[in-house]
Amino acid sequence: MSESPSPVRVEAPSPEVPLKPLGKVMAVTSGKGGVGKTFVSANLAASLAKRGHKVLVLDADLGLANLDVVLNLYPKVTLHDVFTGKAALDDAIVRAPGGFSVLLAGSGMVEYSRLTPNVREDFLRIIGSLLPRFDMVLLDTGAGISDVVLFAVSLASEVLVVATPEPTSLTDAYATIKVLVGEQHRRIVRMVVNQTTRMGDGRAITTQLQQVLDRFVVSKPGEKVRLVHVGDIPADVAVRQTIMKRQLLVQHMPGCQAALAIAQLAAKVEDFLIGKAA
Ligand SMILES: Nc1ncnc2c1ncn2[C@@H]1O[C@H](COP(=O)(O)OP(=O)(O)OP(=O)(O)O)[C@@H](O)[C@H]1O
Ligand SMILES: [Mg+2]
Repeated sequence: MSESPSPVRVEAPSPEVPLKPLGKVMAVTSGKGGVGKTFVSANLAASLAKRGHKVLVLDADLGLANLDVVLNLYPKVTLHDVFTGKAALDDAIVRAPGGFSVLLAGSGMVEYSRLTPNVREDFLRIIGSLLPRFDMVLLDTGAGISDVVLFAVSLASEVLVVATPEPTSLTDAYATIKVLVGEQHRRIVRMVVNQTTRMGDGRAITTQLQQVLDRFVVSKPGEKVRLVHVGDIPADVAVRQTIMKRQLLVQHMPGCQAALAIAQLAAKVEDFLIGKAA
């Protein structure tokens, strides 16, 4: 993770990302793909639902949506139909097995994987109508820093970056955080380290990333970004077992290490997203 020696102030927000982030909305994102965003979003939503909240997960990975596969849901009406005006929003909201709701992108969203003014408007309109109906909305985004991913993240008041301890995942997480700070002036970015193999790994990794951010990235002149370690989720064979069966881990194997970690994560998310304990 080498960088130029002087602090980099990434330029002012592009006109594409001028929005005020919406409270109660948390984007789950990552630099590298396949690190566990969809797994975390779905299981976190189930844990939050179990804690009594009305939660919706929106499949914001428009190009390569797969929340439907993880949840074993095959809805007739999807976000695509709402975007194209073929269906009403209410008809596209589906009840997931874990007691939460989902709005699935489904297939056929490839044309939405580019951020056009229409996509922006559709997205905004839909999130605006969802907000009053739910206590929390989680956006399961795609990986990386494409304009669609950044736009989805820009709508959220909180951003949870998922990374694994692998060096490639960490350098990509760093690159993502740098863009989020530069383009969206994020001052707090939350981080969950997934697939850890040793206790304390996630905290050490977060501290290391924070040190690099402190040296090279500032949100506004004089303002540094704070990377908050929200928790670790251990690598656990139970995860793959339940994904293969298209089941939710927290529902079918609630006692396993990864499920317990997600339950702890849910308590923290509840706290910072809607200020339950604040
Ligand atoms: N804690 C864990 N322990 C073991 N395996 C895990 C864990 N978390 C995720 N995985 C594995 O990683 C795979 C990818 O997870 P997932 O689909 O949630 O990633 P993603 O970040 O959403 O990917 P994409 O970037 O393609 O959207 C899962 O199918 C599972 O096999
Ligand atoms: Mg995914």
